[in-house]
Amino acid sequence: MITRLPTARLLEVVRLGHPVLRATAEPVPEEWFGSGRLRELGDDLVHTMLEEDGVGLAAPQVAEPLRLFAYWLPATDTVEELRPTVLVNPELRAIGDELVEGWEGCLSIPGLRGLVPRHERIKLKARTVEGEPVSLTADGFHARVLQHEFDHLDGIVFLDRMGSPRSLAFEPEWERYLLDGGQHDG
Ligand code: NI
Repeated sequence: MITRLPTARLLEVVRLGHPVLRATAEPVPEEWFGSGRLRELGDDLVHTMLEEDGVGLAAPQVAEPLRLFAYWLPATDTVEELRPTVLVNPELRAIGDELVEGWEGCLSIPGLRGLVPRHERIKLKARTVEGEPVSLTADGFHARVLQHEFDHLDGIVFLDRMGSPRSLAFEPEWERYLLDGGQHDG
């Protein structure tokens, strides 16, 4: 069970076609760490992500061209729940060459799903909104979510990462014909 943040605001999620989704986001300035401004933006991202039923939401998706995103992992058979987390100025690199295909969707591309190859394992370094360093390795769905959200900071959406557009499907048809577990709304 994820606790909602009653004081946070529901932000408008912009959709594909808004130029901010194709821009390279700017690093969060050093003096913002620990400020109310950055804490509120983080809280608003988490609140909006949860209200919109996403597992990730990057600042450019709410028209803030800054390098931070929120994400969380719902519990599954194989993955423990990860509470909503905000990562700022992340750096991401692949561990090894293994790529795996999985279904993705995006709150900025509502209604569509597609198969996207992603690195199976990644390493990520970032800061919290308070400025604390974060370093983690992730694999599987966790790594997929992080790669999807990280891409938003560089103006990349999941459609750009699809090997072919042939798997692209509308959600009702995807659920009916294609769903075999694993989904992602970022
Ligand atoms: Ni997305």
